[in-house]
Amino acid sequence: MEQRIWRVLPFLLLIVLCVAILLIYQHLPSHSNLSTKALRGDVSWHARAGLHTEDPAGHRGSARGSRPFWTACLRNMSMANMAGFSDLPERLQNFLYYQHCKHFPLLLDLPGKCGGPDRSSGVFLLLVIKSQPVNYERREALRQTWAKERQHHGAWIRTLFISGTTGAGLEKLRMNKLMEMEHRKHGDILQWDFEEGHLNLTLKQVLFLEWLDNSCPHVRFLLNGDDDVFAHTDNMVEYLQSLRGNDGSRQLFVGKIITNDYPIRDPSSKYFIPVQMQQKESYPLYCSGGGFLLSGHTAQVLYNMSKTLPLFPMDDVYLGMCLAQAELKPSRHTGMRTLGVHIPALDVDILDPCYYKDLLIVHQLMPLQNYVMWDQVHDPGLKCWKDPRLSS
Ligand SMILES: *[C@@H]1O[C@H](CO)[C@@H](O)[C@H](O)[C@H]1NC(C)=O
Ligand SMILES: *[C@@H]1O[C@H](CO)[C@@H](O)[C@H](O)[C@H]1NC(C)=O
Ligand SMILES: *[C@@H]1O[C@H](CO)[C@@H](O)[C@H](O)[C@H]1NC(C)=O
Repeated sequence: MEQRIWRVLPFLLLIVLCVAILLIYQHLPSHSNLSTKALRGDVSWHARAGLHTEDPAGHRGSARGSRPFWTACLRNMSMANMAGFSDLPERLQNFLYYQHCKHFPLLLDLPGKCGGPDRSSGVFLLLVIKSQPVNYERREALRQTWAKERQHHGAWIRTLFISGTTGAGLEKLRMNKLMEMEHRKHGDILQWDFEEGHLNLTLKQVLFLEWLDNSCPHVRFLLNGDDDVFAHTDNMVEYLQSLRGNDGSRQLFVGKIITNDYPIRDPSSKYFIPVQMQQKESYPLYCSGGGFLLSGHTAQVLYNMSKTLPLFPMDDVYLGMCLAQAELKPSRHTGMRTLGVHIPALDVDILDPCYYKDLLIVHQLMPLQNYVMWDQVHDPGLKCWKDPRLSS
């Protein structure tokens, strides 16, 4: 009898040991952290994820304790039951099918852009420029002109280009490769795996606000704009520094305000908005999307509001809706000329730097014009003999 117990005991001990190891392994906190970190840090893995919609990472992304960053969002087919749905243009039907999708995987991330979330208050002005992969030349011009990362009057300026994907198949791969190269070389590209298009600009905006909340929550101010503008970023820093309480903790949203705008009900218009998407016949105050300045605080308010407001096909109007939801209003600055400058005579050069040297932003300047203008407004010998009388 005793002999039998001694023979079985080693096996019993082995089983107890196995169970103990299993329990410890499952409860080890570093286990899930480790796999999440490995996934986040691996750029090439992110890039590969773009190729397969049915990526096995779906399981890994939803691991306990980690942010679900890869959950394929499916069409909401019950949208088709909406009255008049079948009469809508295909692009708006498509928009409605995917309207609830507010999370797309990051293909290219820059978690350390602002020195990490805790040290992000060291960034005074973050330039956030919407740019499609194909606009390589615009990005190159901006990197060498107004979007150059630098310090001005002791304040740090940092730059990010935000992008989705374009094309399909091999074309998409080539474009993603380009973005990956720029990301590696310049460290200024954020790219998500959604298809670029003007109806997806709101999605891009919301994805960026989510990124900001995670990776750069204490940034003081942001310029959010297009890649075909001239932005006098030196003037912007000086203007923002001159504000009372310039640490970014107050409400601030400045741009070219659009008033009394309303949904276009003509189905043949590019900007057609059916009543199914917006019933009211007016939009709240909003700023033209070409470029606007906001504080880190206001960016957080907008992000909070975006969680409850359904996506709207016009990104600038959508931000106006988010502001209205928070009972805030944008403010005006005469230096924001995102609808272009109006020069009160026909015989003057519309690219005369004297018109630009005191402004904040002007739409629209192409790469070559940006190169020349940025140099000219910094020319200490620039003589402006006449008062640049610009009407707004
Ligand atoms: C899908 O659409 C229906 C009808 O518009 C809506 O009631 C439902 O909330 C939507 N589902 C999701 C997940 O958004
Ligand atoms: C927006 O992106 C999603 C994801 O790539 C895509 O399915 C959808 O067609 C795009 N929507 C529009 C309106 O371009
Ligand atoms: C945004 O929401 C978060 C979470 O609910 C909250 O902690 C934060 O104070 C809000 N931020 C602002 C500026 O309202």
